[in-house]
Amino acid sequence: MNSLIKKSLSLVLKTTSLVLRESIELLTNIASINDFIRTGYLDYIPRPDDIFIVSYPRSGTTWMQMILYQLSTEGKMDFSHISEVCPWFDRMLSFNIMDGDDLENLPSPRIFKSHLPYKQIPRGPCKYIYIARDGKDVAVSYFHFYTSHLNFTGSFSEFFENYFMRGKVQYGSWFQHVAEWKKHQKDPDVLFIHYEDLVNDLETTLKRIIHFCEFDVPQERIPEIMERCRFQFMKKYENKFDHISAVIWEKGYKQNAFIRKGKSGSGREYLNDEQEKIFAKELNKMNINLDMTF
Ligand code: PPS
Repeated sequence: MNSLIKKSLSLVLKTTSLVLRESIELLTNIASINDFIRTGYLDYIPRPDDIFIVSYPRSGTTWMQMILYQLSTEGKMDFSHISEVCPWFDRMLSFNIMDGDDLENLPSPRIFKSHLPYKQIPRGPCKYIYIARDGKDVAVSYFHFYTSHLNFTGSFSEFFENYFMRGKVQYGSWFQHVAEWKKHQKDPDVLFIHYEDLVNDLETTLKRIIHFCEFDVPQERIPEIMERCRFQFMKKYENKFDHISAVIWEKGYKQNAFIRKGKSGSGREYLNDEQEKIFAKELNKMNINLDMTF
């Protein structure tokens, strides 16, 4: 194996194990999130127009983030990652990515993503959109996610029987999560949506969401919004939605900054006279002459 491939593989493994470590950390932190909120550590002050998108993982959360972003803004794709405009509440807070001031500075309506079970979601006044997806499809999607992002190397059967069905995955049992939220599907502050509603009739489901959120969206914008929420459109912008790019964004790394400019002359633009002198002195001392005649 050539050394470039080896290096790339090791980088991929490092990133994956970072995500895995963080996921384990996240799991241990979930239980204590509400304690943080109760003690005021997080300073989350609910607003009546806050909207929580809640789901068991792999149920269409990211899709709903994009839908709400499109419905509540002009829908420009100039964000680095969807978390920037629609933060993942549980993760932001358990990793201290945002504090109370950051939350206060977000413009209304604030839209959060969360996978918290009903008992742990912060109490409003606010609105909750819960997305439920066929559990067997969730298991398959979760298996692929564990394989691609969390280093899982077993078969689907192993994942399904030993982990998913026993609730030994992030956010625990799908059955419990959905059953608890379903009990509240008729609550006035809850809109209970199926992933399958979005797949089968996006336009009607968008209208239910607009009505529930009390958004004012002109009819003529709907075709464009539907186009941007289509699978193919989101796939084209996958790095703005993927979990690995979220971790990279959270760490403050800039994407598309590595193959940067590809021109000569930046040195002259950036170095001041003093820095030029220090550099020239060192060059002279080391007797380096690169013979650059431009
Ligand atoms: S996560 O990791 O919990 O945030 O995942 P989540 O976003 O909840 O769910 C991922 C699945 O949603 C599918 N998805 C979509 N389906 C249809 N249309 C659009 N626009 C769309 N965007 C995301 C995504 O492909 C995952 O499902 P699977 O079955 O794995 O394809």
